[in-house]
Amino acid sequence: MTSAAEQDRVLIFDTTLRDGEQSPGATMTQSEKLEIAQLLDEMGVDIIEAGFPIASEGDFEAVAAVARLAERAVICGLARANLADIDRCWEAVRHARRPRIHTFIGTSPLHREITRLDPEGMLAQIHRTVSHARNLCDNIQWSPMDATRTERDYLCRVVEAAIRAGATTINVPDTVGYTVPRESAAIIAMLRERVPGAGDVVFATHCHNDLGMATANALAAVDAGARQIECTINGLGERAGNTALEEVVMALKVRNDLMPYRTGVDATRIMKASRLVATVSGFPVQFNKAIVGKNAFAHESGIHQDGVLKNAATFEIMRPEDIGLAATNLVMGKHSGRAALRAKLRELGYELADNQLNDVFVRFKSLADRKKEVYDDDLVALVQDSVVQGAGEHLLLRRLRVVCGTEGPQTAELTLRVAGEDRQVTATGDGPVDATFRAVKMLFPHAARLQLYQVHAVTEGTDAQATVSVRLEEEGKIVTGQAADTDTVVASAKAYLAALNNLIVRRAKTRPEGFAV
Ligand code: KIV
Ligand code: ZN
Repeated sequence: MTSAAEQDRVLIFDTTLRDGEQSPGATMTQSEKLEIAQLLDEMGVDIIEAGFPIASEGDFEAVAAVARLAERAVICGLARANLADIDRCWEAVRHARRPRIHTFIGTSPLHREITRLDPEGMLAQIHRTVSHARNLCDNIQWSPMDATRTERDYLCRVVEAAIRAGATTINVPDTVGYTVPRESAAIIAMLRERVPGAGDVVFATHCHNDLGMATANALAAVDAGARQIECTINGLGERAGNTALEEVVMALKVRNDLMPYRTGVDATRIMKASRLVATVSGFPVQFNKAIVGKNAFAHESGIHQDGVLKNAATFEIMRPEDIGLAATNLVMGKHSGRAALRAKLRELGYELADNQLNDVFVRFKSLADRKKEVYDDDLVALVQDSVVQGAGEHLLLRRLRVVCGTEGPQTAELTLRVAGEDRQVTATGDGPVDATFRAVKMLFPHAARLQLYQVHAVTEGTDAQATVSVRLEEEGKIVTGQAADTDTVVASAKAYLAALNNLIVRRAKTRPEGFAV
């Protein structure tokens, strides 16, 4: 357990790259994972759960690459309760300066039925697997999956078995988002009180948001003595998601009077992390999302606007700059140079390498030629677009020309680079987007079904950039793609291709059996 001086320190365990990536459609490429991991490491996240190494070759490589990259954070990989999973996990995380193996088994009656282990058999399995993990690594996290629906006496017994076998962190997952704050606190208090050896381990809380209480449940667990919160950026995760990192970090800051705990996270990097994860996962942040939603600091009513102008504290419990959000303003024009762009992007939280900056600069100049006013949000869309388009190289848009209007049929002439070779086609359709998507399908035949097609204007005005999101489904695999352009049809084509590039990555991945939630 932490020393007395550290009693107020809560560890932040980010699982965006593992539980977050399990959101249907949120598959990320290795380079995207590395970019997120680098940011999490820089912003002071204590533990990064980088993936599930046995899930696929791609997952294994990504965890190993994150392990090699991290400077400060502990790098953790997930493993089921069997020796092969644990060995594979260790193979991936052992490259880290500070590795951790996280192994789990479903302990509730429903899960015991699935694994066909009786209570005693499961205790033996826990002992065998945790001891094996501990022989490989001295930092072991163990989780009784579905802990909140596990009989309390049995929960104490499995936790005791894991501690005896060498676990150093005990995580208590509310796997199906079933618990409520007072129960979440009571479970942690009970384990700390009843389990022998509880004083030697860190207790963690892992909450899902099915009833909208993930953040409240995590904070209640901390009040009862948990000192590690498992969370994800933007609350990404299975079903309704996980506890949102930005919510717990800011709640502990803003209400430190009632919750006297601190994290090591630099909150001014939150906005950047939120934007990056939204882009690479293809899950846009809902406008009214706490902390990072577009409207979180927007004041619409006259009374509120007046109050905020006189004294921001009237209607704001935190300042936009506390999470790294610069005030929206008119920033740049077509005469702005590279240095000004670099400075502005730095202010927005983006530190770009020279080649990335060059790419964004070319796009910025082209945008400034087409659009009178370039806002912060336009620049964010440009940077994110460049991140996404750089991610998958198999399909690349070379040229698109559409004919549309009242006299049909709408036509799309498309040149696509497919695996390094340019191919061209003309297709007609019911509208310019339909014609474009048909053309893509002719050049790259596939069976994926379009599940969602969404267009958002980045700023106001008819010359605004459009951000397009596309979600595709193929044999149960769901992938998304996003892109921005002042031309909505071009943005649509790029988003469709981004989704297909993700599908190509995803086809190589399979989820292991026995991981039902
Ligand atoms: O929700 C859950 O139970 C999990 C475990 C693997 C920790 O994600
Ligand atoms: Zn989970």
